[in-house]
Amino acid sequence: MILVTGGAGFIGANFVLDWAAQQGEAVVNLDKLTYAGNLETLASLDDNPKHVFVQGDIGDSALLDRLLAEHKPRAIVNFAAESHVDRSIHGPEDFVQTNVLGTFRLLESVRGYWSALPADQKAAFRFLHVSTDEVYGSLSATDPAFTEENKYEPNSPYSASKAASDHLVRAWHHTYGLPVLTTNCSNNYGPFHFPEKLIPLMIVNALAGKPLPVYGDGMQVRDWLYVKDHCSAIRRVLEAGRLGETYNVGGWNEKPNIEIVNTVCALLDELRPRADGKSYREQISYVTDRPGHDRRYAIDARKLERELGWKPAETFDTGIRKTVEWYLANGEWVANVQSGAYREWVQKQYEAAPAKAAA
Ligand code: NAD
Ligand code: TYD
Repeated sequence: MILVTGGAGFIGANFVLDWAAQQGEAVVNLDKLTYAGNLETLASLDDNPKHVFVQGDIGDSALLDRLLAEHKPRAIVNFAAESHVDRSIHGPEDFVQTNVLGTFRLLESVRGYWSALPADQKAAFRFLHVSTDEVYGSLSATDPAFTEENKYEPNSPYSASKAASDHLVRAWHHTYGLPVLTTNCSNNYGPFHFPEKLIPLMIVNALAGKPLPVYGDGMQVRDWLYVKDHCSAIRRVLEAGRLGETYNVGGWNEKPNIEIVNTVCALLDELRPRADGKSYREQISYVTDRPGHDRRYAIDARKLERELGWKPAETFDTGIRKTVEWYLANGEWVANVQSGAYREWVQKQYEAAPAKAAA
């Protein structure tokens, strides 16, 4: 039995779905169901006795103590977090609350549980913390990709809160001997991605005939990894990672944002052409830049490849095609996540400020 936190969000749910399909080991899924948590994503597991869903907060120590005592997991995989940079700019407090304080409370409950385990189970136990490359800050165009040796230089409230959580995890290993592993992954994309992030937002806006908002000059670079490849990396690190180590996860797919948007448009032009025969590119709209916008992220994942033999299965071309096809085939999921509170976010982020003239 493993305990996954945040398993109703984008990456956590993909991980839980893959785990249930491949591993045969039960999973307890603790998720607060914030705006980003979605039980519809997990609907295919409704009748699966090896998936136990619990709605709750990683900061709720009493709940955690109870879950750990009841289910006795051999490992924890911690996905639960506030994850969107733009939301962290509008309202950083939730990020400190969940990513910093929540991780601290989770670590404390896990430490109590782990300390009392019999010696063999104690030795085999693992706490895997899922983190981001954004903790390393921003690269110039000529800097080498981030390795695990890079300094932490987080720039956004989101990345600062994730950096803090990584430091807590590290300290719980060094001070208390908790058997931890940390992964720092680049930008993910794929099925079940909430349409506040670049790729799904572009797909759903394009199909709805809305503007495709590109921040600043659109030349910021992100390093993209298909979500299922991130999940396979986490399984591999959980299985064979060296205790106390961090592993960068990425697929060497650096792309400027505008290229991503153009690729999404080209795929939609092919798979679901606009009624007027024009390209979806017509909808691109350059808008005011994100404050403090990191210019470039790039991941050097050679440690993970060298030590644990991990490699991604998808190239960017295969992954982005699968993603666009998934959104076209899952209109109901998309319509449902866009109802309710999503409207408020879109208004706050995109409709309050006027679009800039085309760059
Ligand atoms: P997400 O926002 O889609 O999902 C987060 C999930 O955590 C949601 O289901 C939410 O309900 C849950 N959650 C939030 N606060 C909680 C709390 N206090 N207690 C319990 N559950 C809570 O995020 P994601 O994109 O799936 O990211 C998952 C993890 O991976 C995060 O830790 C994120 O920092 C990290 N990460 C994400 C990316 C990316 O590109 N999305 C890249 C690298 C690392
Ligand atoms: P995002 O998906 O929010 O991930 P992150 O900020 O964690 O990298 O954004 C990816 C890139 O796309 C980032 O450089 C910001 C940019 N972006 C836009 O240009 N327009 C948008 O509407 C969004 C959401 C992001």
